[in-house]
Amino acid sequence: KKKITTHQLQEMKNRGEKIAMLTAYDYSMAKIIDGAGIDVILVGDSASNVMAGHETTLPITLDQMIYHAASVIRAVNRALVIVDLPFGTYQGSSSEALRSAIRIMKEAGAHGVKLEGGSEIRESVERILSAGIPVMGHLGLTPQSIYKFGTYSVRAKEGAEAAKLIEDAKLLNDIGCFALVLEKIPAELAKRVSASIQIPTIGIGAGHDTDGQVLVMQDMLGITKEFQPRFLRRYADLHATITSAVSKYVADVKAVDFPNDEEKY
Ligand code: KIV
Ligand code: NA
Repeated sequence: KKKITTHQLQEMKNRGEKIAMLTAYDYSMAKIIDGAGIDVILVGDSASNVMAGHETTLPITLDQMIYHAASVIRAVNRALVIVDLPFGTYQGSSSEALRSAIRIMKEAGAHGVKLEGGSEIRESVERILSAGIPVMGHLGLTPQSIYKFGTYSVRAKEGAEAAKLIEDAKLLNDIGCFALVLEKIPAELAKRVSASIQIPTIGIGAGHDTDGQVLVMQDMLGITKEFQPRFLRRYADLHATITSAVSKYVADVKAVDFPNDEEKY
């Protein structure tokens, strides 16, 4: 199968084909979703929540992101693999940002990086792009800024924040980002941004007029049970599937039903 490139994502937008993106953090799951035809795999810093059990994305380190990303890359044949630069590895200076991005490209073998923010991180984005590293932007509800926002509710509902988001989207488009994530903003705003910039937008909780969609894999598979935002559609109930499989296994072991005579040497 042909590998997905950033150029193909642009062509998909140009011809009106929606882009499907999911997160993955490990080899086994990445192999399954790559085989199932996902276009883009995001090694998100949501690994901090989903894999490590932290309350926010802030604690995850660059070394930990590289471990997750390298595991995903070893599994993938077709998808484009983009990796989040974690909190604190790109805001301080553009040279630190470039150093962080280079580590992700070299040590994990990633195909590009994602950074949260607009004009505040312009120099970092430009410096990374100038090294030939594809950059995906991320605006709206940017979870690394949760302590600034104070809540995980919808962003850019009113004028000033919406106006800044539109400007930031244009900026990221103009300086050469290849795509832009729009997280938890009004569908009308996401539609307007998607129509006003050339590069593809990938929405999460941003309605259906973005050029693609992204979800956290464990959320859409129903592994994370407590998290139930309106935008989340569950495509499986793996929490129930795994619970029943494990309780059956426990019962079989206790009953000396497993292993049976065929399951031994
Ligand atoms: O870390 C993540 O999973 C993300 C997506 C939700 C866009 O950034
Ligand atoms: Na993220």
